[in-house]
Amino acid sequence: MGLNVDVLRSSFELVVETAPDLTSRFYEILFERYPQARPMFHRRPREQQAKMLTEALVAVVDHLEDAPWLSETLGAMGAKHLEYEVTDEMYGWVGESLLATLAEVAGEAWTDEVAQAWTDAYGAISSLMLAGAENARALAKTA
Ligand code: HEM
Repeated sequence: MGLNVDVLRSSFELVVETAPDLTSRFYEILFERYPQARPMFHRRPREQQAKMLTEALVAVVDHLEDAPWLSETLGAMGAKHLEYEVTDEMYGWVGESLLATLAEVAGEAWTDEVAQAWTDAYGAISSLMLAGAENARALAKTA
């Protein structure tokens, strides 16, 4: 996929060590910038939500070189997100907020190279989720 795997792994490690609760900060930033997203997260307690997101990010970072895993797992996750009424546009909100969170926690370690690596990675992750959502929509039409 042409991702800068070494840079992604080392910066993610640094961020998780610095702020183990980074996903809580992510939700703060997301809801500050896109308050319309807040009511969508009503099924689970915030801590559980944050924990599931952290686990998902850790799993993705662990499988950056495993294209079949990424495509299958993220495709299924994208399809599931249709049930949460997530639209394609919202992937931009989440990407922006996630990168802002990583940048804030990384501080001076957030170099242009690191920013580029995460921009590319989020682009790849969201494309695979959106492809899964698109397949699920197409299947629903033929059912
Ligand atoms: C990198 C992209 C994303 C990842 C890794 C991710 C990950 C997750 C995970 C792990 C869950 C827990 C349940 C499950 O597995 O289905 C979840 C739920 C959810 N996600 Fe995402 N997600 C992403 C993008 C988005 C986007 C763009 C939105 C739109 C705002 C969104 C909104 C939601 C909502 C509303 C729920 C359910 C919340 C609840 O149960 O209260 N996600 N997400």
